[in-house]
Amino acid sequence: MIFEVLTIFPGMFQSPFSESLLKKGLEKGILQIRIKNLRDFTEDKHRMTDDYPYGGGAGMVMKPEPIIRAGEEIKAQYPQARSVLLTPQGEPFHQKVAREMSAHPHWILICGRYEGLDERVRLAAVDREISIGDYVLTGGEIPALVLIDAVSRYIPGLLGCADSVEDDSFAEGLLEYPQYTRPPVFRDMAVPEVLLSGNHAQIELWRRQESLRRTLIRRPDLLKGAGLSEDDLEILAELKEQMENKGM
Ligand SMILES: C[S@@+](CC[C@H](N)C(=O)[O-])C[C@H]1O[C@@H](n2cnc3c(N)ncnc32)[C@H](O)[C@@H]1O
Repeated sequence: MIFEVLTIFPGMFQSPFSESLLKKGLEKGILQIRIKNLRDFTEDKHRMTDDYPYGGGAGMVMKPEPIIRAGEEIKAQYPQARSVLLTPQGEPFHQKVAREMSAHPHWILICGRYEGLDERVRLAAVDREISIGDYVLTGGEIPALVLIDAVSRYIPGLLGCADSVEDDSFAEGLLEYPQYTRPPVFRDMAVPEVLLSGNHAQIELWRRQESLRRTLIRRPDLLKGAGLSEDDLEILAELKEQMENKGM
């Protein structure tokens, strides 16, 4: 999978890709990150990438030419590359979007700064607009890193354990069950016995119950879209009854 990142702050991408799984993905060649400094696509002697907004107002606006030139250069070589504008006005970035994006092998990520980009970039050169949440950051670099990290987890061979991406929170629309490791008792808190039982069917059932319990308590909004089975609905009904009895 290839990510081409258009930014005026290429230095922000050094450390995140020099550690852990993303670094290993780069070393294995299953992930490629190409950081393009937008200043290299300017034609004036000051290498300006921003200018004053027409109509007045606070802040600066990113000029269209450097971004469009950078995108066109990439698309001339890789016509299949799709471009994403990181913007708080975009579609919310969810696990489903990350999984869907992982099916396409080549993305161009456009990182805005200041008050954002000249609208004509969006009109001429953007296939998709993505927001990482309902808050405003100083630039698109951190959103681009979030997106690369979440999408890259779906690249076959990137994660140590091939299954874990499908077990994680949100993968099935639910939050993940609680996890434990050794020691079996820590400060009077014991690992649930079922996890030590070796009974895989019981463990699976416990995990499903805990996943449903956690989602019901913390994110009941997720239950609607989770595609629950008859068994799940029965478990949920019991959990709700237990909670009501406890006055929760
Ligand atoms: C200060 S923001 C500009 C916000 C813009 N004036 C607005 O109100 O929509 C600068 C840049 O940060 C990035 N950015 C900020 N918050 C973001 C978010 N929640 N998701 C994705 N990108 C974001 C975008 O690339 C944006 O162009």
